[in-house]
Amino acid sequence: MKIAPSILAADLADIASELEKLAHAGADLIHLDVMDGHYVPNLTFGIPVIKRIAELTKLPLDVHLMVLNPEAYLDTLAALEVSYISYHPETVHHNHRFIQRIKEKGIKVGWAINPAVAVNIIEPVIADLDFVLLMSVNPGFSGQTFIPSVFEKIKKVKAITKNRVDFEIEVDGGVNGENAPQLSSLGADILVAGSYILNSESYSSAIRSLRHVK
Ligand code: DX5
Ligand code: ZN
Repeated sequence: MKIAPSILAADLADIASELEKLAHAGADLIHLDVMDGHYVPNLTFGIPVIKRIAELTKLPLDVHLMVLNPEAYLDTLAALEVSYISYHPETVHHNHRFIQRIKEKGIKVGWAINPAVAVNIIEPVIADLDFVLLMSVNPGFSGQTFIPSVFEKIKKVKAITKNRVDFEIEVDGGVNGENAPQLSSLGADILVAGSYILNSESYSSAIRSLRHVK
C-alpha cells in the first residue's frame, strides 16, 4: 500500500518544510492536485509551483490534472520527471493517442473516474492504462466527505483488470483511518489523503494508520 499525501491541504506558504515532514513521515508519493478553475470550481497551482516542488523533494510526484486541457501540461511534466499522471478522460478528445503520448515519456498514466462515472469506461484501454484514480469525492476541494460507492468500484476494477498484475488502483478523496482498512482489503494500491494527514498532529502516525498490509 502506497500513501500519497495531497499537498493541497498543506501549508502552501511553507511547502519546503511540509515536503520534508512528509518524507520523514514515510510518504511514498506526493499527490499534486492541479485545478484550473474551469473543469472544477477551484483554482490551485500549475507548472511553476510543481517545478519548485520537484526541486524540493526526492519523492515521486503523482500529478492529478483537473483541467480542461491536460495535453498542454505533458511536455513540461515530463521534463520535471513526474512519475504518475492522471487526468479525467472527458477532458480529452483522442484519449488513445494521449495515453500513448504519456507512456512514451515513461510516465505512468491513469484515468481519473468521477463518482458519477461507471468504471467500465476503462475497458477499451485496459491494456494501455497503468492505473485508475477512483474519485471518492467530487473533484474540486480537499476536506470533503468520502462517498462509499467507491468500494464497489474497486471490486469492479479488480475484476476487469484481473489479467493485468501490475495495474494499480488509487483512491482519492475523504480517505481516513476509518475507511482505509476496507479500501486496502478490497485491493486499493495507492491511497491519497489530504486533510486526514495534513491536519493531523503527527503526519507519521496518520500515514501509519492508513497503511495496511495486504
Ligand atoms: C479533490 C482532490 C483530492 C483532495 C484530497 O479534488 O483530487 O486529491 O485534495 O483531499 P482530502 O483527502 O482532504 O479529501
Ligand atoms: Zn487528487
